[in-house]
Amino acid sequence: PEITFVDFAGNETKVDVPSGTSLMQAAMENMVEGIEAECGGSGSCATCHCYLTTDWHGKISDPDSNESDMLEMVTEPKDLSRLSCQVLVSDEHHGLHVHLPESQY
Ligand code: FES
Repeated sequence: PEITFVDFAGNETKVDVPSGTSLMQAAMENMVEGIEAECGGSGSCATCHCYLTTDWHGKISDPDSNESDMLEMVTEPKDLSRLSCQVLVSDEHHGLHVHLPESQY
């Protein structure tokens, strides 16, 4: 599926993401800037923060308790904040957008 990353300045990068890949991996492999992912995807650093859009509703499970805890540590949390390493892309996500925060710190 195709996912569009939108950076803080509004620049869009469309990426073809294999199903089962996390949003974090997809961003890193395609040189999308704005994600740090210091822990490498284990859900323990909160430097892979991203914002989903309402289009994702019903197409993704809620954050687990660890992710919820970590999301309290991000710089500018919003309702649709997620850790991008915990969001796995599947076919039903084709065409959706992911927004990146101004900073991960
Ligand atoms: Fe560290 Fe996602 S990469 S929490």
